[in-house]
Parts: sequence; structure tokens; C-alpha cells
Amino acid sequence: MGAYEIKSLEQYFKVYKKSVREPRKFWSKIAEDFVWYKKWDKVLEHRLEDAEVKWFVNGKLNITKNCIDRHLAKRGDKTAIIFEPNDPKEEAQHISYNELYVRVCKMANVLRDQGVKKGDRVCIYLPMIPELAVAVLACARIGAIHSVVFAGFSSTALSTRVRDCGSKVLITSDGGFRGNKTIDLKSIVDEALEDCPEMESVLVVKRTGAGIDMKKGRDIWLQPLLEEASGESIAEVMDAEDPLFILYTSGSTGRPKGMLHTTAGYMIYTAYTFKNVFQYEEKDVFWCTADIGWVTGHSYILYGPLANGATTVMFEGVPSYPDFGRFWEVVDKHKVTQFYTAPTAIRALAKESTDWVTRYDLSSLKVLGSVGEPINEEAWHWYNDHVGNKKCPVVDTWWQTETGGLMISPVAFATPTKPTYATLPLPGVQPVLMDEKRNEIENNQVVGSLCIKFPWPGMARTIWGDHRRYKETYFSAFPGKYFSGDGALRDEVGYYRITGRVDDVVIVSGHNLGTAPIEDAINEHPAVAESAIVGFPHEVKGNALCGYIMLKETGETRNRENLTREINQHISEHIGPIAKLDKIQFVNGLPKTRSGKIMRRILRKIASGDTSNLGDTSTLLNPEVVSEIIDSAV
Ligand code: WT7
Repeated sequence: MGAYEIKSLEQYFKVYKKSVREPRKFWSKIAEDFVWYKKWDKVLEHRLEDAEVKWFVNGKLNITKNCIDRHLAKRGDKTAIIFEPNDPKEEAQHISYNELYVRVCKMANVLRDQGVKKGDRVCIYLPMIPELAVAVLACARIGAIHSVVFAGFSSTALSTRVRDCGSKVLITSDGGFRGNKTIDLKSIVDEALEDCPEMESVLVVKRTGAGIDMKKGRDIWLQPLLEEASGESIAEVMDAEDPLFILYTSGSTGRPKGMLHTTAGYMIYTAYTFKNVFQYEEKDVFWCTADIGWVTGHSYILYGPLANGATTVMFEGVPSYPDFGRFWEVVDKHKVTQFYTAPTAIRALAKESTDWVTRYDLSSLKVLGSVGEPINEEAWHWYNDHVGNKKCPVVDTWWQTETGGLMISPVAFATPTKPTYATLPLPGVQPVLMDEKRNEIENNQVVGSLCIKFPWPGMARTIWGDHRRYKETYFSAFPGKYFSGDGALRDEVGYYRITGRVDDVVIVSGHNLGTAPIEDAINEHPAVAESAIVGFPHEVKGNALCGYIMLKETGETRNRENLTREINQHISEHIGPIAKLDKIQFVNGLPKTRSGKIMRRILRKIASGDTSNLGDTSTLLNPEVVSEIIDSAV
């Protein structure tokens, strides 16, 4: 692979221009590097105003041929997946491309034996163990649509998702290890399936060895079936636009949205962005710390790296187990070259002593990545200084479940980075900022709603079973454009900084205040570990700001009145007196989703004194902090 590789800023601009002027030529040249049963008749058909997009029309392929089979001749013995278990004492597994081929074929045959056919939905509810990767790829091999549900989700969340996509087969395990906890996955499944009468078979991987109930006629141990299955399986011929997977993402309202991604465009987009943004080279070891239950794991643990024949690390554990040095121990152990994680993890580790970092040899690292939320300045510098030793470009990658792959991001070693900025659009991505009157803002040094005005191959095609909702959510606010739901600032050179969800903007006395920069300012206070700002109704100002603030251990002993004064002074200095907080509540924790995002919706309700209906809290990691915050509300 190598079309339109980017090695310098100059080249980036050249390639970018080409991708905008001649998007069809651009993407078809890149698509030539993949294995097809039959090439496409037409590169692109689209009507964005109707949310209709097709890439590589009538092309035929199988993504696993591209992610596995084609590497066997040259890289059969190369490690495809390094599995690093939760317990550092358990040995890591190195799964070669040859072995991955056999394991995926076996799983594919087991699924076929269970009656799974092309187009059927298979729900996967597994911890971060190799069988998860194998199951995902096996579905792709036989043309079944995988729907991975993060194994930290509750039984309610699981059953909603199983029912929404109508899946009749589920793959799970007896349990999972996470830090010093064992998660009892199978009993969560049993509870979830009480509401899913359509479920026909549950394939169970043995991981923890916990005693579990096996329901007769429904539950089957997977390993014995795999042992007996053949290690060869013919890959299904898929149309470029045949569905590859469904992945649920929570909306600001209503039930979760099953984002549907299709085959060819998604494959090409994740492969191209992976290679260029992270400057992947043949001998590299890439580690994305996300869970495969999120899009980050789909695109940058599995499909993007494997399409490039890369070695990708799959980590079962957590950054704090057995201690805060775990990430760095793993980087050292496997000589990781690109490390990709989330700001929430960086902030958590930055709270601890840098001794955890310096005790390991991180000299293998070349590129650092960040994803999931705006990275604040303090965390950016900690990451850059202590992990990257100021030698590794930090790529702050902006994208979404809906976009399939990276959208706005530096290209490592080509795009000069700037803390808190995702910088420039990747080739093929045409961002625009829109004002309140729905006009495109042409100049720089502006803020607006971030839209994309031209299709890119990785974009989701619909919401499973609800195309109208897809169109309304993403293509109606700014007709003819994809609306991301995020606000962004464009600086004097055209760099983008994502300021957060547009609904996280609070208008105080007529001033438009993004909560993210205020939080940044607060977090710079030496006593503060983390904070969340929300608006609440105010008689005079329209809205006022309330801050939920978590202190560092060193801050715990401080006088709260003094702290409140200092924090407001800090905000005044960094943002302006207008952004001062009317209410401050010191808390022991912030309500977070499992992907590490603060659930501001809940804090907004608490701040406005309306705790009667907090809505769906089933995706919260730490529901207990909610009642704590309510009980001690100011
Ligand atoms: C939302 C998408 C993309 C995979 C993980 C999250 C926020 C994501 C950044 C970034 C600022 C970011 C946005 C976006 N976000 N990356 N680098 N800087 N904000 O996927 O759960 O679909 O969430 O995450 O608000 O809309 P997701």
C-alpha cells in the first residue's frame, strides 16, 4: 500500500488538494491497493441531503481477505495480534497472521454451523480477549453483521441492543478480568436475554473458569466446537456497500443509535488514515488502549492495523492495575512504537507520580495519539513531556463513531502540532464551520458548528432500522451537510480546535461560553484533579455556571472557601470574569460513561435542582457518585 502517502507538510497540502479537487480519482487510486473479487463500476454516488451515500458501487470483496489472507504469503509468521492479559504474570500471546487465519476460519465455520448466514446480526459481548478479535473477523468472513456490545455495559443496555438489531446468536464468555475485579459476564447475559425471546444460541468462551449456568438448548461452550471445526473457510463475496457492522452510540436523547458501517469504504478509510496519521511502518508495534467495544477499537485495534499487515496490541486490563505503571510497562515489554489512548486515561495517570513513567524504557515510542474528547493543555503537555520525552508528535485525532475513522488530525511528522488542536482535516475530509444562521463561515479565527460538506468513504450509511432518524440527526440541521454535533474554533492558520459538543455551550448573559475551556482553566489549579462545568437557569443572566470539582489528594486538606475564591480568580484570569462560577460543588467523583465522558446531562439536571427524572443512567461507569452528588448538592 502506498498511494498518496504523506511524509511532509508540503506533501500533505498537495495530497489534500488532490483529494478535494478529484475525490473520485483520489479514493479509487487508494482502493487499487486492496484485494477485490471485482472492481467497482463507479467510485461514488451521493445525495447528502437525503443521507444517501455509496462508495465503490458494485465492487465485490471480503474485508478479511484484505486483513488476513493477502498477508499470508509475505507475513504469515509475523505477529498480527499481541494479546497482553490483565494479569502481568499471565504470559502474553503472539498470534501470527497464519494462526489468525486458522482461528478466524474455525470460528467462521462454527458460526455457519449455527445457521448464521450473510446479513444475519451476531451480537458479541466479550472482554478484551483474542476470541473477541476472532469473532469480529469471523463474522466479516461469512458476511454476518457484527454488533459488539462493550462488556462493561449493563444487562439492560445489552438486551436493548440485542433486540434493536434482532440478533439470534450471541458470543460471550463465562466472565472477564479487569484490574483486581472479575466480571460475571454470563449472568449479565442471562438477565439480558430474559427480555430477548428471539435469541437462539449463546456461544460461551471459557476465560475465568467461574461456575456458570448453561441454559439447555441455548448455551454452548465454544472451545470444543472450535477444536473440531475446519481451519479453512471460504470468504463470502460481499458487495462494497454490504453492511459490515452495527455499533451503538448514545444520542443526547432517546434510545441508542445503531450506526451501520459498510464494507469497502470503511476498510479503505481506516487503512489509509491508520497508515498516514500514525506513520505506520512494517516493523512497528501499534497499541491502541481502547476496548473493541468502541469504534476506536474496531477501526484502530482491528481493521485499520490488520489491513496494513501491522502488529496490533490488544490489552485486557486497565491502566491502574497492578499499579499506575502498567501502560508503560507494556510499552517497554512489547517495544510499542505508536501509542494511542484517551485524555481521561492521561489525566488519571498524570495525577500520579512521574516515577511510574520514568522507571520504564519508553524509547521505542515514535508517535502518541489522543482521542475521545478535547485534550486539555495540562494533559497534553504531561503526555508530550513525560511519555513522549518531547520527541514524539502527539496526534490529537478528532472523529466519531459515525465517521468510521479519523477526520481531523495531525499527520505525524508532517503537520506541526499545537496543544489542544486537532489541527487539519485529513485528505478527503472537507470540514466547514456554520454560524447560527446556517451560513458557512469562510474566514479564519472563528467558531461555529462543525459540519462536513462532502462524503468520505468511512462515513456511517444509516442508523440500523431507522434511516429517517439518521437523516434527521445528522443531515437536517444544515441541509446537504453532515453535522457532527460538535463546535469548533478555526485559528488564524486554519487549524481546528474542537470545543466540545454544541450542547455543552452555555450562554451566560448573552456570552457564548464553551464549558471545555473553563474546565481547562480550573484544571490548571494545582489542587484540582478534574472538573465539569454545566449551565443552570439564572434569573438575571439567563444561565449561570456550576462547577463540579474533584480535588487531588493534596487539595483535600485545603480550606474550601479559599479554594473557591482561587478557582474563580483562575477562571477570571484565563477566560474572563464572565465565566466565573456561581456555584461550586466539591465532589469525590464525576458521573462518567464507560468511554470516559462526563455525563453532563445528569449534572445539568442536578445543578438546576431537577433530580426527579435523570433519564437513562444505564451506561454510567459509576452510578453511585450521582446520589452522592445529589445528597451533598449546594
Ligand atoms: C465525540 C465522538 C472517536 C472515537 C471515540 C469517541 C468527541 C472525539 C475528540 C478529539 C475533541 C473529541 C467529540 C465527538 N471527540 N475525539 N480529539 N477532540 N473531541 O467516539 O463516542 O462517537 O464520540 O467525541 O465530541 O463528537 P464517540
